Amino acid sequence: VLAALTAKDLVGENILITAGPTREELDPVRYISNHSSGKMGYAIAVAARRRGARVTLVTGPTCLAEPFGVETVQVVSALEMRQAVMDKVSGSTIIIKAAAVADYRPASRADLKIKKSAECLTLELEKNPDILGELGAIKGEKILVGFAAETEDLIGNAGKKLTEKNLDMVVANDISLEGAGFNVDTNIVKLLFRDGKVEDLPLMGKLELAHIILDRAAGLRGTGIK
Ligand code: CTP
Ligand code: CA
Repeated sequence: VLAALTAKDLVGENILITAGPTREELDPVRYISNHSSGKMGYAIAVAARRRGARVTLVTGPTCLAEPFGVETVQVVSALEMRQAVMDKVSGSTIIIKAAAVADYRPASRADLKIKKSAECLTLELEKNPDILGELGAIKGEKILVGFAAETEDLIGNAGKKLTEKNLDMVVANDISLEGAGFNVDTNIVKLLFRDGKVEDLPLMGKLELAHIILDRAAGLRGTGIK
């Protein structure tokens, strides 16, 4: 019933979404990752699909089922996510990067399990490419939406990401708040726009927030319902 009542206002949009964490393997047994559940990105994919968009979801490992009617590409590492995004980017009209990409990966991956010996083990890490930053540099007419997970100076830090990565909108997430961020079904965010406007949103479910993010993103291009 809900699906039937949803306006198909995103027909013609081709939306590329990333979701979930990435995993950076140390050896066949261990990896470095983060607490992302993928729920926010998957909610955006489901919402966009219901509204008639063509949706591609590039996702790191999550426990969530692949959304019906959404072309889903499963990846593990940041380097794989970058490759999948670059493969799918052409033709997209809106890109929404909800994934929590690991900033660093082990400088080398051991083929065999690392055995314990010394009392202290130091890992050498190297920086992963900033996928969103790369997209910002080539974005053209596309609408580019990023997320910012912060534990301090939310507006300052998220605003810096907006300009430095050449985004149209940032969903700024204060992950120190209860009911926000990782592994919960709700979120509390502020939306930051290029013109300096900040929209303060109350605590809400991730699906409801997904629809608002899509409203604003499509609205920036003069399509969809504002
Ligand atoms: N992002 C990305 N590639 C990376 C790191 C982040 O595409 N290697 C994207 C995320 O998907 C998100 C946005 O950049 O949309 C912001 O991620 P965040 O971790 O908050 O910011 P960083 O730029 O990585 O900066 P920092 O972690 O130092 O705050
Ligand atoms: Ca980061």
